[in-house]
Amino acid sequence: MDGLTTVIFPVAGLGTRMLPATKATPKELLPVYDTPLLQFALDEAIAAGAKRVVLVSHPDKSAIEDYLTSAPALEESLTRKGKADLLRALRATCLPDGVDLRVVHQPEPLGLGHAVLCGAEAVLPGPVGVILPDDLILGDPCLAEMAAAFRPGEMRSLTAAQEVPAGQVDRYGIFACPPGAPGEAIPCTAFVEKPAIADAPSRLAAVGRYILDAAVFDVLRDTGKGAGGEIQLTDAIARMGGIHAFRFSGTRYDCGGKDGLVEATLAVQALRRGAAGRPRIAAE
Ligand code: UTP
Repeated sequence: MDGLTTVIFPVAGLGTRMLPATKATPKELLPVYDTPLLQFALDEAIAAGAKRVVLVSHPDKSAIEDYLTSAPALEESLTRKGKADLLRALRATCLPDGVDLRVVHQPEPLGLGHAVLCGAEAVLPGPVGVILPDDLILGDPCLAEMAAAFRPGEMRSLTAAQEVPAGQVDRYGIFACPPGAPGEAIPCTAFVEKPAIADAPSRLAAVGRYILDAAVFDVLRDTGKGAGGEIQLTDAIARMGGIHAFRFSGTRYDCGGKDGLVEATLAVQALRRGAAGRPRIAAE
């Protein structure tokens, strides 16, 4: 399909795995070397063609909105001191012309499915993208790869996927599908949230990138609590049918956990230092 017009960012979670770092700083603003997780996600959405960004946030996380607001006094100070590189980096945090921002609140973290539903009234017509900023994917921009493979009408959903160790399947949404090839939409017969290891249909796990038919909102309105007592996006995707998984080309870091954030930081440090054969960062 041509570019996605709307990308939803669910950022209302509590980020408890990263406490105490997330006590006063939203997880999505934690830095990976020199750049907050949210910025990588925004750049990826823009690379996929987003014209509207919908932040589903929480009233206690207003720092996220502050991050997206221009800072004229700081800009003026950097201009006066001739710090052109820093000024450029600062200005790059604002959304470019032609991309608008809507902020809606999820009053309580009732689950990812509920967070996506909170964005329903703010989206433009057509399929929507969803990015979970704490899943950082370096390399070719994942959501743009997925948009190229998504066929509206024929598919109801396309979800980024990667193999995980057998001992981790109970932390993810898991697909039942043939192995498929990287870069193609793989039709799936089932998608289950956090199955017990013995019940998992495969080791192919969902990671935080989705393209969803707009019908998902009606299905979510009608989806009750699932695994962990939360309203699960996985359950709504499974109920819609037309499930597809997508093996992306980049490298994913689980930055919702401490080790993943450190690994991502070292990877970005190496990239910034210009390692030989330097691969691209989605943010560039
Ligand atoms: P996570 O489950 O990883 O986030 O949700 P969390 O709940 O903040 O993390 P922990 O487990 O307590 O450390 C993945 C994404 O979905 C968002 C989160 O903000 C994160 O970006 N989310 C999750 C919501 O917006 N609302 C929810 O109710 C749940």
